[in-house]
Amino acid sequence: MKILVTGSAGFIGFHLTKYLLERGDIVVGLDNINDYYDVNLKYGRLSEAGITRESVSLKKYSISSKYPNYSFVQADLSDLQYLKEICEIEKFDVICNLAAQAGVRYSLINPQAYIDSNIQGFLNILECCRDNQIKHLVYASSSSVYGLNDEMPFSESHKTDRPISLYAATKKSNELMAHTYSHLFNFQTTGLRFFTVYGPWGRPDMALFSFTDRILKGLPISIYNNGEMRRDFTYIDDIVDGIVKVIDGPISLGTFDKTPSSESLSSVYNIGRGMPVNLMDFISELESCLGINCIKELMPMQDGDVAQTWADIENMRSRFNYNPKYSLQIGVKAFIDWYKNYYNIQSIAQ
Ligand SMILES: NC(=O)c1ccc[n+]([C@@H]2O[C@H](COP(=O)([O-])OP(=O)(O)OC[C@H]3O[C@@H](n4cnc5c(N)ncnc54)[C@H](O)[C@@H]3O)[C@@H](O)[C@H]2O)c1
Repeated sequence: MKILVTGSAGFIGFHLTKYLLERGDIVVGLDNINDYYDVNLKYGRLSEAGITRESVSLKKYSISSKYPNYSFVQADLSDLQYLKEICEIEKFDVICNLAAQAGVRYSLINPQAYIDSNIQGFLNILECCRDNQIKHLVYASSSSVYGLNDEMPFSESHKTDRPISLYAATKKSNELMAHTYSHLFNFQTTGLRFFTVYGPWGRPDMALFSFTDRILKGLPISIYNNGEMRRDFTYIDDIVDGIVKVIDGPISLGTFDKTPSSESLSSVYNIGRGMPVNLMDFISELESCLGINCIKELMPMQDGDVAQTWADIENMRSRFNYNPKYSLQIGVKAFIDWYKNYYNIQSIAQ
């Protein structure tokens, strides 16, 4: 298959791209490499996939030295004309849109970034699908769409009309926009509601990364809602496995020509572990992996955040045979091993 992966210098996009390349798909990766967090991490991921920093240039393809089936281009989702150009030339089978302004808390600080990338940018992706007969658009949604819903576990059949952050509102909007475009223009769209993804090459703004960073510096970590939080932490390899299963089917790529109903064309799935973990247990796991007892600062709940997430993954399981298998112990250790290696941390003193 020929696949456009947007956000391919990002955490999930990098891992997905690598998986697809290794099994032989042709991938064009696209990312604007913005500085929401340390760009060195983004260039580091690209370099792991054979794209050197020096070769990256705006709207010009770099070819991977490691994977002949990989080219990467630095471009912004807001550039509709350029997106249309590459879609017309490349004739992708699938677009996997992972590029977005991520992060719940930052949406209280810089809301415009969310509108630009997640609303305007997503509309541009939909327009490209419409114009170029893309058979399947797979895109990142988020567990945050469940907002104030307190029915557990979160099921795709639950109402998601009470988001509590602009980030969540943009992700919910993506689901509605995708449904509309599937209905009007007859192409397949699948939204994936990811649940707290973690693992090697993860995001510095997320708990595992920022806690590790602070603990190793001997700084206290902030524990919100006094630790009364539960998260459905999902290891990156399980997320990639889920995305690939959705890219591969069971939806036939011929669906586009068969004028099926809009309901079968547009769908949304939870991809989580299906096993929420108490925040304090998560921190204990991290402490034991690092061999350090950290200094904890108990804090009130943050605006925009929810106390608990828990994915009902039955739909992914039954439709795509999705079976997450990585335990928190294995996942946290894999992250710490990567972190120590990446930041060249030889030994950790108590
Ligand atoms: N990581 C999680 O736990 C999680 C949970 C729920 C949903 N998601 C969603 O999954 C997707 C991937 O998340 P991630 O954790 O890999 O985040 P990430 O920030 O590491 O990756 C996103 C990438 O998109 C790029 N990007 C942002 N705006 C762009 C634009 N306008 N044009 C081109 N590129 C742009 C960024 O430079 C970045 O490299 C995002 O849509 C995110 O909202 C992630």
